[in-house]
Amino acid sequence: MKEDYDLSKEYIDFIARIKLKLGIDLNLYKQAQMKRRLISLRNKRGFTSFPAYYQALDKDNVLLKEFADRLTINVSEFYRNPKRWEVLKDTVFPLLLKNRQKITIWSAACSTGEEPYSIAIMMKEFFSNIAVTILATDIDANVLDKAKQGIYQEQSLKELPPRLKKKYFKEENELFYVDPTIKQCVTFKKHNLLADRYPKNMDLIVCRNVLIYFTDEAKERVYQKFSHALGRNGVLFVGSTELMFNPHKFGLAILDTFFYQKMIK
Ligand SMILES: C[S@@+](CC[C@H](N)C(=O)[O-])C[C@H]1O[C@@H](n2cnc3c(N)ncnc32)[C@H](O)[C@@H]1O
Repeated sequence: MKEDYDLSKEYIDFIARIKLKLGIDLNLYKQAQMKRRLISLRNKRGFTSFPAYYQALDKDNVLLKEFADRLTINVSEFYRNPKRWEVLKDTVFPLLLKNRQKITIWSAACSTGEEPYSIAIMMKEFFSNIAVTILATDIDANVLDKAKQGIYQEQSLKELPPRLKKKYFKEENELFYVDPTIKQCVTFKKHNLLADRYPKNMDLIVCRNVLIYFTDEAKERVYQKFSHALGRNGVLFVGSTELMFNPHKFGLAILDTFFYQKMIK
């Protein structure tokens, strides 16, 4: 019992220090899951307590970088959950693009870039007469560096239709390089969904496979901010395990499974 108490207190102190050092508030992430991951990493590096681990993180930048990388789960791929991307192409974009020449899209928590580049490829291929601006953000500066490079293993392209893979990538030594015309459509920027100011007047916000890591309170705050960030009739596209139970609470209505549209006031 005492041990549990000490562990909780040590953990609470640890996350308070991490917030000061990295600006990331781990209280807003689901605790059991996060604590398990951090204990496993801490033990792997040979530390038996959180104070000792923090002291080491504070002095050693390599250890700190490894820690920051572990906080965020960066798995991604092109056209992740392809059936949803079909709905985006066949239903959502035609609706959003009716009588319009331009569109502004935000890929929030974009990881290594597969998601915003998938959007750019879809726009170029199927809606080439539309001017598209894509803002792609993530909390993790390392994934953003990789995203800007736009170089991928074949595995991350497995859901992309082969014709598009051939057309928009150059293959060299088993690596796939995104076409410069696709890269050009995307601007990458560091952004913390739980702390930073949100952009405004977005036509489409794509935020997939990150909200599952947040506590319910944090998630609700993010939904509220997304709703404000959407322009008139804007659409929010979430991940396949991230169904919203009460979209009306945030001024949103179900457009299709995993797509929510801002309601006109
Ligand atoms: C599993 S990836 C999702 C990538 C992509 N959206 C997809 O669905 O394939 C989750 C991403 O969320 C980012 N992330 C975690 N917490 C965040 C936060 N508070 N603000 C912004 N991004 C965050 C991580 O760095 C990671 O790149």
